[in-house]
Amino acid sequence: MKVLLINGSPRADGNTSELVKRFIGDIGNKASVEEVRIFNTDIKGCKNCGACQRAVLEKHCTVNDGMSALYPKFLSSDVVIIASPIYMWQFTPCTLAFLNRLHCLCHSADFSYNEMAGKKMAALVTLGDEEEVADFAVNGLKEFCTFFSIGYLGDLRIPFASKEKISSGEYDKRIKGFAEMILG
Ligand SMILES: Cc1cc2nc3c(=O)[nH]c(=O)nc-3n(C[C@H](O)[C@H](O)[C@H](O)COP(=O)(O)O)c2cc1C
Repeated sequence: MKVLLINGSPRADGNTSELVKRFIGDIGNKASVEEVRIFNTDIKGCKNCGACQRAVLEKHCTVNDGMSALYPKFLSSDVVIIASPIYMWQFTPCTLAFLNRLHCLCHSADFSYNEMAGKKMAALVTLGDEEEVADFAVNGLKEFCTFFSIGYLGDLRIPFASKEKISSGEYDKRIKGFAEMILG
């Protein structure tokens, strides 16, 4: 199984990255996992030129930026995990830009072309408040998956997150359960 993990946290040493590290520690020898940290990747938002909706483009999108290298990674993965902290009730801006730019992989007017169909997605989320505060972001991802015929596997949310608590092992059982759920 090929897993692409998109880490949208700005902090390489923060709460989300600690969660990601422990998740990869669990799943890494049972699946091929590639983590891509996207905070410093130039991913612009869709400019709505419409080209991808009229034809299947060789490079998927007319915007040439950091996303160009991520399309092949996305397309060759079985499972894509979105790992992001919640900033202002949402996934981080780079995470949203990544999701935004996947639009070119589907002709959403008639679904005659949809390279996202059959993929699976899941989310790893850390936040400063209680779990429900992530609903807005996570429910948006679920809607995204339903619309594009992607199987939504589930999410693991760490509320009131701190790196110390995550690295203490307090969540290891839940992280292991999440990894087992991804493996199926
Ligand atoms: C700009 C900003 C906005 C935030 N907004 C929220 C929020 O809306 N809800 C929440 O529960 N936590 C919020 N937080 C707290 C983070 O989600 C939490 O500390 C998270 O674990 C940080 O992960 P990181 O170390 O990977 O950045 C916010 C933090 C920042 C820096």
